[in-house]
Amino acid sequence: MKAVIVVGARPNFMKAAPLIREFSKRGTVDILFVHTGQHYDSNMSKVFFDDLELPQPDIYLEVGSGTHAEQTARVMVEFEKVIMREDVDLIIVVGDINSTLACSLVGAKQHIPVAHIEAGLRSFDKNMPEEINRMVTDILSDYCFTTSPEAETNLNREGIGEERIFFVGNIMIDSLKYYIEKAEESNILEKLEVEKKGYILVTLHRPSNVDKPDQFRSLYNVLIELSESNTVIFPVHPRTKKIIESETPPFSRPSSLKLIEPVGYLDFLKLMKYSGIVVTDSGGIQEETTVLGVPCLTVRNNTERPITIEMGTNTLVGTDPGDLLRAARKVLTRDRKNCAIPPLWDGKTAGRIADVIEKV
Ligand code: UD1
Ligand code: UDP
Repeated sequence: MKAVIVVGARPNFMKAAPLIREFSKRGTVDILFVHTGQHYDSNMSKVFFDDLELPQPDIYLEVGSGTHAEQTARVMVEFEKVIMREDVDLIIVVGDINSTLACSLVGAKQHIPVAHIEAGLRSFDKNMPEEINRMVTDILSDYCFTTSPEAETNLNREGIGEERIFFVGNIMIDSLKYYIEKAEESNILEKLEVEKKGYILVTLHRPSNVDKPDQFRSLYNVLIELSESNTVIFPVHPRTKKIIESETPPFSRPSSLKLIEPVGYLDFLKLMKYSGIVVTDSGGIQEETTVLGVPCLTVRNNTERPITIEMGTNTLVGTDPGDLLRAARKVLTRDRKNCAIPPLWDGKTAGRIADVIEKV
């Protein structure tokens, strides 16, 4: 059996790595590893190959950036050539990015079964490009691998039956568990001159937060305010960097608000583990902080990962700057939620997925 595994952007690498490792250990499925090139900067792509010990991609599609249509179309055109050339039995896609959508569309039209890892997540907000990618990918997928029980209900509601749904747990947590000890060796805290639990870690990259200058500036002003009492570490996503660098008047940069380049996986795991609070609009970071037991304030009005709120350390604070400031101060005064780890977020998800795929 031969399966393609597709990656394209930062949050894909930690989801693909455990499955590639699992199949290489088992030797049961030949993997064709394809990188679409949706993310291409060294600190958004190559660093994860090093940190996660990923093999070099067999095929690199070099699609780069563009509008949604341009990017999706370029992945489709290039990926279709791969599928027509190679004799593959299954296409495995992860997450909810444009590359995920594009490759599942190509697979479905070429009558190749598609497996979607992280299926069934729904924010019920179609203003998020990812929500459209999730819905279309799931409807086209023959194997919907889910991370949490409510995903099954979401899929059933859209007409996807039990025979296509496999509750296997969270593969991103396989990577976290595998690398958390190695992350201890990172010297990122010394490099940034911060003490354990003595800083706030921030990531923001959702278009709804960073593409509108007024909205982004008001959130940025909250970070400045928080940095008056705590060091704030902000690894800046390239989408966000564009606005920080182009806007006038320039964004002020007090020394306790440390704007840094995106960091590698091991450095970021260490930064998350020892941070007092994480402030983010990332999808994956809501999950990782839950497993690490670190309070997470999610700067969004909804989440496709409600289990991180119900069971985990996540709090949805919305996008109002005043609400974010109040929520951060509350957590800083140690008013914290109790939390537990969601079922099957146990580091063994890749094995459960491989068991299903071997029977395809
Ligand atoms: C994409 C995903 C989003 C995911 C995020 C993870 C879609 C629709 N969005 O958003 O779901 O949460 O990745 O980080 O698929 N850029 C660079 N260097 C790079 C990559 C991007 O400079 O290596 C800049 C380009 O100016 C580009 C912009 O970032 O136009 C946005 O990149 P894109 O991949 O389109 O979307 P993300 O915001 O990264
Ligand atoms: N991450 C990282 N370095 C950073 C920021 C994030 O390694 O500077 C990791 C993080 O631990 C998680 C993944 O990248 O595993 C999340 O990616 P991102 O927030 O870009 O995407 P999303 O999950 O929102 O789709």
